[in-house]
Amino acid sequence: MGKVVVIDHPLIQHKLTILRSIHTSSMDFRNLVTEISTLMCYEVTRDLELRDIEVETPLGKCMGKEISGKKIGFVPILRAGLGMVDGVLNVVPGARVGHIGMYRDPETFKPVTYYCKLPKDVNERTMILLDPMLATGGSLIAAIDELKKRNVSTIKALNIIGAPEGIEAVKKAHPDVDVFLAGIDERLNEHKYIIPGLGDAGDRLFGTK
Ligand code: PRP
Ligand code: URA
Repeated sequence: MGKVVVIDHPLIQHKLTILRSIHTSSMDFRNLVTEISTLMCYEVTRDLELRDIEVETPLGKCMGKEISGKKIGFVPILRAGLGMVDGVLNVVPGARVGHIGMYRDPETFKPVTYYCKLPKDVNERTMILLDPMLATGGSLIAAIDELKKRNVSTIKALNIIGAPEGIEAVKKAHPDVDVFLAGIDERLNEHKYIIPGLGDAGDRLFGTK
């Protein structure tokens, strides 16, 4: 059964508060999303397998560790997920990056997929989906569907803020997927925005409103 993990590290919680603020500029918003994504990536990758390897220092030899097992791929859900890519690549620079483009239909709130480009060997990797907002869960569920269609067996989600109803929906549709968040908020409003949330993540990242 997949787990839902709220990462309550003080640095993440401090930065999340600034991210939420209406007074935070687009430039600061982008930098904060990058920083939070870097910090959260430590926790998401905590279970990476290691193997022993000999290393020669200037003064002798010793045993060290290196990461083994499945390689990693990141998949931002466009647009807002793009803001998290630099942050996770700071920690896993060799990872491949796929892209899934989706927007929520303003009437039905259902995700509409308009783009999908994934690494060729996607099914051999641990794939980590990136999206700052998990609202109804529709976008994340559809993105996981895209990965499962391509036989990806290890999938994780990295979200900054989630709504309880969206998290429940993801758990129900894809109980095998681990979801990592910095915060779980109260609820969704009638427009399916997260309350209190941080507003429209894509617009705040790219200054489009
Ligand atoms: C936002 C957000 C998620 C989605 C979450 O994207 O970045 O992808 O909504 O909502 P859900 O959980 O109800 O599916 P949006 O559709 O606003 O597109 P954008 O990132 O291009 O602005
Ligand atoms: N998308 C956002 O950007 N914010 C929300 O609160 C919900 C969906």
